[in-house]
Amino acid sequence: MAIGIFDSGLGGLTVLDAVSKRLPDQPLVYFADSAHAPYGVRDADDIHTLTKRAVERLWSEGCNLVILACNTASAAALRRMQEAGVPEGKRVLGVFVPLIEALTERQWGDNSPPREVAVKHVALFATPATVASRAFQRELAFRAIGVDVEAQACGGVVDAIEEGDMILAEALVRSHVDALHRKMPDPHAAILGCTHYPIMEEIFQAALGADVKVYSQANLVAESLADYLERRPDMVGPGKTNRFLTTGDPERVGRGATRFLRREIVFERA
Ligand code: DGL
Repeated sequence: MAIGIFDSGLGGLTVLDAVSKRLPDQPLVYFADSAHAPYGVRDADDIHTLTKRAVERLWSEGCNLVILACNTASAAALRRMQEAGVPEGKRVLGVFVPLIEALTERQWGDNSPPREVAVKHVALFATPATVASRAFQRELAFRAIGVDVEAQACGGVVDAIEEGDMILAEALVRSHVDALHRKMPDPHAAILGCTHYPIMEEIFQAALGADVKVYSQANLVAESLADYLERRPDMVGPGKTNRFLTTGDPERVGRGATRFLRREIVFERA
């Protein structure tokens, strides 16, 4: 059955949408842990427990491969889950590495020593838990030297998007970009390090200015998944249709998802 795509809520749908466009014949099972969203204000142990439970559920649905389409879960739980070992034939992957490979101009799996890259001043916008984990800086340090990263924890943005309050989300994005500018007046590039943020990409770009390159994950993750599946076709399990599961109220989450993707999405209770 398909590939599993996990997020705390609606944000991972940006990744699901890009994967569906890149791999139209690939069935997907989406899992939104809406009852426990947002994750970004929780501590690392809590995020690990919730993420592990969701991934195990997707494995039990027959998904051999699960993508954590959530930076917060990737930052706080992925390494711990991989180090503890995953069941035979199952895999779990995060969303950080494809982004950092794009930023550092690397091909997939290029494990050569860190080197100087073109961008020198990078703004990272992410949830408080992702910022606190410093996982982005750690992954970047394996691949690049001399890059100055200023991280801005974007409190409230995920909640506003989940509530469908886009006016509040926009105001918060502008104020977080202002706060970033006070610490780093002239970033070369900006990372949208939360899968909810691509829905606000135009606002980030407008607030940052046209000369700042904004990196957003969805397409990078889809491309990297397509690449991975060419090498690991065994990771595709049986199943033919997409499914959407949530720990929250399926009707409410379905309405939010329909608004988010601008096409009808029907959720089942997980
Ligand atoms: N989409 C999740 C991420 O990429 C949001 C986390 C949250 O629930 O706060 O970080």
